[in-house]
Amino acid sequence: MDAHKQLRIGLFGFGVVGEGLYRILQQTPSLRATIKKVCIKHPGKKRNAPEDLFTTDKFELLNDPDINVIVEVINETEPAFDIVTTALRNGKDVVSASKKMLAEHLPQLLELQKETGLSILYEAAACASIPVIRNLEEYYDNDLLHSMRAIVNGSTNFILTKMFEEKLDFKQSLLMAQQLGFAESDPSLDVEGVDAVNKWTLLLAHAYGIISDPKNIVYNGIQHIQAGDATVASEKHYEIKLVAQAKKLLNGKVAAFVLPQFVKPDDHLSFVKNEYNGVVIESGFADKQFFYGKGAGSFPTASAVLSDLSALRYQYRYEYKKLYHHAPLELTDDFYIKIYVSFDDWSYIPKEKFEWIEEWHAESDRKYLIGVISFKELQNSNWWRENKTSLILTPEPIIEDVEIRKLKKKSLELAGIT
Ligand code: HSE
Repeated sequence: MDAHKQLRIGLFGFGVVGEGLYRILQQTPSLRATIKKVCIKHPGKKRNAPEDLFTTDKFELLNDPDINVIVEVINETEPAFDIVTTALRNGKDVVSASKKMLAEHLPQLLELQKETGLSILYEAAACASIPVIRNLEEYYDNDLLHSMRAIVNGSTNFILTKMFEEKLDFKQSLLMAQQLGFAESDPSLDVEGVDAVNKWTLLLAHAYGIISDPKNIVYNGIQHIQAGDATVASEKHYEIKLVAQAKKLLNGKVAAFVLPQFVKPDDHLSFVKNEYNGVVIESGFADKQFFYGKGAGSFPTASAVLSDLSALRYQYRYEYKKLYHHAPLELTDDFYIKIYVSFDDWSYIPKEKFEWIEEWHAESDRKYLIGVISFKELQNSNWWRENKTSLILTPEPIIEDVEIRKLKKKSLELAGIT
């Protein structure tokens, strides 16, 4: 596709993102991109666009030789996969925002891109308006990318902001996130951390060449956070955020997970409020960098789709450089983490599994401890997600395997145990 070529788009979905794109394209004639047809599921709905633009027949778009780009922004995972794979096989480039579909089917989509030589771009699928995928793809050689920490879900960040800064309750905050078009149509995907881990799967592929099933990454959402946790956080001058993180360890492998975390006031992520997202990258020589922008909502998400469309005009493709041109990295569970856990009853907590416990508070109904545990233990157990137990990472949670003995000795000495 040459830079002067007109993009003729077949659009799947006319919800928050699809309609946003339609409006944005009306305001950007210089892109020379027009939507030829929009495929929708429910024809009866009132829509602010000419009726003859719409169809319910997907093949009107997928088999139209005049359409050279398919933009897929629907909600359902398997139909979305069917649309993008058919589009690629039919010789059309694809722009998608379906993070769940992309994360769950990344291996097949990698193969199909190789096979067809066509492009599937999905900047809108992670951190919406922040151009993080293309940055990770083009910058940061594998050996230089030390760590990434990010807030990748706008709805949960919005809910936490409303609950802890404006003292709204959880239900009210979630309802607002839904009304503003931030939440997924099934909001449990946001609240329980599924959306965040899907996005993290995509970012791990572009950052480190790690291709992982999202199911293999330890994650949780904000559903178990209690008022008492917020009290502890504010006593310690922390905030609670849902943080996706990845860190290259001394063994050359990557620790990656998505869990709530106590964040210090001088952490860049504490600056990220409401539906905003933020990504902090630490790399050799460049040191720390912070990307910040709206992570959900109609125009911010559509703006990323627009930038993908614009990139297609100069034949941009993800090269998956970290996977194909560098030595791809692997995930590891060989490390320890320092966690805060609050709970109703001691019997829910396997105390013997902790390497050591630094603080415990049993004065009130809601009890809590801060201790160090092996990551493997979390990966292979469920006690920390059950019985209204709430697990929150401490600000610098990762302890490397090689450090654990020294630190354990020191902590036991401090406690007067040795
Ligand atoms: N539900 C998503 C979020 C939408 O809240 O971040 C943007 O991907």
